[in-house]
Amino acid sequence: MKGFAVTFTLTMVLSAIPLTAQPNDLPYRDPRRPVEERVADLLGRMSLADKLGQMVMGGRDWVTPAQVETQRLGSLLSGGDSPPPAPNNLAGWTAMIQGYQAAALSTPLGIPLLYGIDAVHGFGALPGATLFPHQVGLAAADNPDLMRRIGQATAQELAAVGIYWNFAPMVAVVDDIRWGRAFESLGADTARVSRLAAAYTGGFQQGLEALDQDRERERERGQDQDPNRGQDLPRPLATAKHYLGDGGVVFGSSHFQIRGAWSRLDRGDTQGEESVLLARHLPPYQAQVAAGVGAVMISYSSWNGVRMHGHSDLLQGVLRRQMGFTGLVVSDWEALQFLPATGFDQQVAMAVNAGVDVLMEPARTAEVLGILQALASSGQIAPARIDEAVARVLRLKFAMGLFEHPGAVAAAGPRVGSADHRALAREAVRKSQVLLKNQGALPLWRGQRLLVAGSHADDLGLQSGGWTLVWSGFQGDNQRLPGATTLLAGLREVGGDSTLIDYSPTGDFADPRATADADTKAVAKADDKDEVQADAKADADIDGKGDQKADAAIVVVGEPPYSEWLGDRDAEGLRLTVEDQALIARVRPQARKLILILVTGRPLILDQALDASDAIVVAWLPGSEGAGVADTLFGEAPFTGRLPFAWPRDVSGIGPAPNLSPATEARLLFPEGFGLSD
Ligand code: BGC
Ligand code: BGC
Repeated sequence: MKGFAVTFTLTMVLSAIPLTAQPNDLPYRDPRRPVEERVADLLGRMSLADKLGQMVMGGRDWVTPAQVETQRLGSLLSGGDSPPPAPNNLAGWTAMIQGYQAAALSTPLGIPLLYGIDAVHGFGALPGATLFPHQVGLAAADNPDLMRRIGQATAQELAAVGIYWNFAPMVAVVDDIRWGRAFESLGADTARVSRLAAAYTGGFQQGLEALDQDRERERERGQDQDPNRGQDLPRPLATAKHYLGDGGVVFGSSHFQIRGAWSRLDRGDTQGEESVLLARHLPPYQAQVAAGVGAVMISYSSWNGVRMHGHSDLLQGVLRRQMGFTGLVVSDWEALQFLPATGFDQQVAMAVNAGVDVLMEPARTAEVLGILQALASSGQIAPARIDEAVARVLRLKFAMGLFEHPGAVAAAGPRVGSADHRALAREAVRKSQVLLKNQGALPLWRGQRLLVAGSHADDLGLQSGGWTLVWSGFQGDNQRLPGATTLLAGLREVGGDSTLIDYSPTGDFADPRATADADTKAVAKADDKDEVQADAKADADIDGKGDQKADAAIVVVGEPPYSEWLGDRDAEGLRLTVEDQALIARVRPQARKLILILVTGRPLILDQALDASDAIVVAWLPGSEGAGVADTLFGEAPFTGRLPFAWPRDVSGIGPAPNLSPATEARLLFPEGFGLSD
């Protein structure tokens, strides 16, 4: 009751004081004028401090609204571990962002703030939001229209709290599944990454147009409650990341320890001929530019030893001049410190002069602003370069409509975790399932007796992976994702009352003949004849065999959640664990069929589990709608997913794509693109 009261009050306050646009008294504030005219007018009114502020992005954990005002910051982000101080709900987010936005608008020129976040599989930081499968699953689905709709839904859920900048899509073409970011990627194929990520960006950036049309209809019916009614909604900004060649990093080229974990590939070095770099890793960016992407984030990684954040040839020569990208270039989180220059000030100079427009330095905004001031006065950064960077930021803010609509979109509130969005996520889950093996175990049918086991069967954190509520994800507390459905809950829902499901994470099942009441329940609840018959048949089979407790056992295991280098592994680290193998062996004799479900961000070495399983399904990291897995298992939807990575048979089958050595190729279990239909 208390929680409800707090939320209610906040919501009331929010709708009472909407953030309104500035009056149109100056040319730059007049939305009828062309964007370029507005940019020129505003630039002409800005002091050096005003300009430098637009080039710096702070982190919300370190920056207060008062500092946004005094430092004239142009952008802010919530990193992976950065929910609002309290409460972490729609109202809490909206109030927090509104506080920062109000501070930005209170400066003399009133330039609205761009607030950014990593909504890489939906608005993962907000409990109750819709969580889509991580991109590796979407790559398996390989469906541009699905990507477009997911982009659109994500834009709407973010707009509900006033976030219009997403650090997605990641367009890395991944050579090596040992990289901890393989799950965030769209796989190993340049063309697939390009078409899927471009569809996402188009959907995301136009995501509020659909909302606008709906709002229009509601307005006609007199139901529109949005305080900003009548104004166009903003056009959100997507970010293609990480430029360039992040997915090509060489195993062993990275070796640092942060947060207690050693890296092997993340932030490492991509090596080889320029022609190869451009042919394999550049096309997704060309597709992004064609899709009108607003921002490009630079990669921590290097190419042939040269750090990307200082690579003027690739940042200016290729991205700007050859490709004609006109949006903004943003650095990655605290990435400047890796540049080969003496002192942080020279690292800042190097990045800005190489072509980085906005510096994501979450914790050091005051220091970076001081450095930029000094570099400007000493001429190490030319005034023209500053104007160029600032103009890019302003151009986007005008084009996005942020000056006219700086606040949250109240009409988007009901979309957060809505039935429509969850249905879309469930569809995405269904379409992303990859069937690797099936010897008469699938589809399941209603009325069967099923055993469900494994750590990942009933754990929302594990099935959602990294970038869920916290940077490297969580496990063990399903309450943290309200409205979400675990795989187990999905099996129960889709299986209905006639399907008898016994669940034990550790695979310790009682003999069903000892639980006669369960049989009674099945016969009583099965509402059609077939189901009763199926149940009777199942019982007969069990009795016939004498030693098996069920028709099928479903074992759900996989990877723990992780992010970035925390997920870097050596080849041995990609084996199913000894505990999971033991679980499979223990469950195997208890049912007539064993179905192995892998909840994972990348291929895993199956070892004995391959032969022990009658069916194997890769569920990837499905997110909040676990029932999509059950839909496919029960044959409600066909298996259409195809592997976005080749699947190794053993450790010698792991090596950098695309040019696998013949020895590595010989040790593959399934090629990229593999997937059975039934
Ligand atoms: C990641 C980016 C992310 C940024 C902001 C970095 O560590 O590499 O992908 O957008 O953090 O959270
Ligand atoms: C941030 C990431 C960053 C990581 C590493 C997280 O809180 O969101 O962007 O890479 O910390 O320190």
